Amino acid sequence: RKRVVVFISGGGSNMLSLLEATKAADFPAEIVAVVSDKPEAGGLAKARAEGIATYAFARRDYPSKADHEMAILGKLSELQPDLICLAGYMRLLSADFIQAYAGAILNIHPSLLPLFAGLHTHERALDAGMRVAGCTVHFVTEGMDEGPIIAQGVVPVMADDTAETLASRVLTVEHQLYPMALRAVALGEVRMDDAGNTVRTGSNADPAAR
Ligand code: GAR
Repeated sequence: RKRVVVFISGGGSNMLSLLEATKAADFPAEIVAVVSDKPEAGGLAKARAEGIATYAFARRDYPSKADHEMAILGKLSELQPDLICLAGYMRLLSADFIQAYAGAILNIHPSLLPLFAGLHTHERALDAGMRVAGCTVHFVTEGMDEGPIIAQGVVPVMADDTAETLASRVLTVEHQLYPMALRAVALGEVRMDDAGNTVRTGSNADPAAR
């Protein structure tokens, strides 16, 4: 089983959906720890309640972004993860950090990337008059919410949607999509090549399975 560390900044509902999925005996990955940049993140207590080790690194405890990341990288070198899943981790990782785990960092973003990268994605999707919305799991590269796409999920936009109602419809799909994407990457069915493209094999090569 691939060793996975999940990074969170908030409530951790995606982290919990990954954790649920990894409980299946045949799931090809296990969560070995949860890391947060927010000691008060609600997801940390939820992870501990499930018996998962948690580590918080408050940004304010370090003089620079580089020192903050160095502390996290130090913990990761103990934990020896094969994969890192960003799950509502609201901090941009530096190029050095990403290079240290090239092709091994996944992120979920609540929009159909490359549309609406960054913050306030649901407001912006509604303002644009989108009729569908969704979420994207992708490999992390240097740009924010960039990087080759692993999987996407789509939901309809309803006439009376607010950013909140749309966010919660998308979140439901996130909880299905992220475990599926992690499974495919852990099995080696989807990977990022050196040129930064997604390579799909096995059942993931079939467009119908995307
Ligand atoms: C999720 O909707 C996730 O896609 C989003 O934050 C939420 C975290 O919820 N991530 C981003 O916006 C990253 N740019 P959770 O803590 O309950 O998983």
